[in-house]
Amino acid sequence: MNDLTLKITDTPDVRYTLVTGACGGLGGAFTQLLAQKGEPLFLTGRSGERLKVVVRRLKEEYPDLPVLFCACDLTDARSRAALFACADEAHVRFRRLVYVAGADIQKPFSAYTQAKAVFQARVNFEGAVTCMLAVSERCDMDGTAEFLTVGSVSGIYPMPYFALYSATKKALEQFSSALRTEWRGKAKVTCLLPGAIPTRPDVIENIRTQGVWGKLAALPPEKVAKAGLNAVRRNRRTVIVGFWNKIMRFATALAPLSVKMRWIARRWSKTEKDAF
Ligand SMILES: NC(=O)c1ccc[n+]([C@@H]2O[C@H](COP(=O)([O-])OP(=O)(O)OC[C@H]3O[C@@H](n4cnc5c(N)ncnc54)[C@H](OP(=O)(O)O)[C@@H]3O)[C@@H](O)[C@H]2O)c1
Repeated sequence: MNDLTLKITDTPDVRYTLVTGACGGLGGAFTQLLAQKGEPLFLTGRSGERLKVVVRRLKEEYPDLPVLFCACDLTDARSRAALFACADEAHVRFRRLVYVAGADIQKPFSAYTQAKAVFQARVNFEGAVTCMLAVSERCDMDGTAEFLTVGSVSGIYPMPYFALYSATKKALEQFSSALRTEWRGKAKVTCLLPGAIPTRPDVIENIRTQGVWGKLAALPPEKVAKAGLNAVRRNRRTVIVGFWNKIMRFATALAPLSVKMRWIARRWSKTEKDAF
């Protein structure tokens, strides 16, 4: 366990929320919101140093809140095993998983390397699936457990130039939906489908270039995180956040897929985003 672990407790009634991507924009908003609610936290991200900064800040604001952390590369099976070994060492039991980690690489698929494609598929999907299994083995599956995954409205339709992102987010949505039925009475499972969230500078710039639509559809991470936690508490299958994103979903439903594909391809081919 890390040296900055704030409080290791064996108390059987303490149940942690595992937040992945805890140092990121949306993950940070979830972490803050859960801390405000007094929920014990188990945070992960790739950098132990960045996690320490987050935990230090939380310690200042919520000195009594149990907060644990452990660095993990979610694309690596050995690193994931070490994460849960770390939790077992501290006798951690979970109440909730909030799987936020993700990579939103956007470019023509032929411009990918093999390594980049594997990285994006693993962090967006394999990491989520394996964490869901590992957390389910370490929590009370008596109807109180909560699993919240972060999909995207970009998974609603196949997206040329954002193809792998869109496909992994759709896969995550479908997987979460199926589990929600399998785990009925055992756990609540929700897939959050946000539109644009101004988190990183490149995302903010991307939203800006979308003009009025960007302004209307983008929502602050705090609002998205709140909607996600409310939705999983109510065991919603999926939740699209924001009035304009819901309108977009319904307004485009009847258009033929080929028309949607051409429109999406025109729009998305103008932007490129990378992630590491
Ligand atoms: N921003 C948007 O417009 C938007 C819209 C819809 C959906 N989403 C989804 O929301 C989630 C959060 O996005 P964000 O905007 O907050 O971006 P972000 O700040 O870049 O957060 C992404 C997080 O994923 C983590 N991550 C990436 N690769 C990882 C790996 N191999 N192992 C462990 N963690 C890894 C990063 O952790 P470290 O770098 O700390 O390791 C980072 O905290 C993503 O799943 C994204 O697809 C975002």
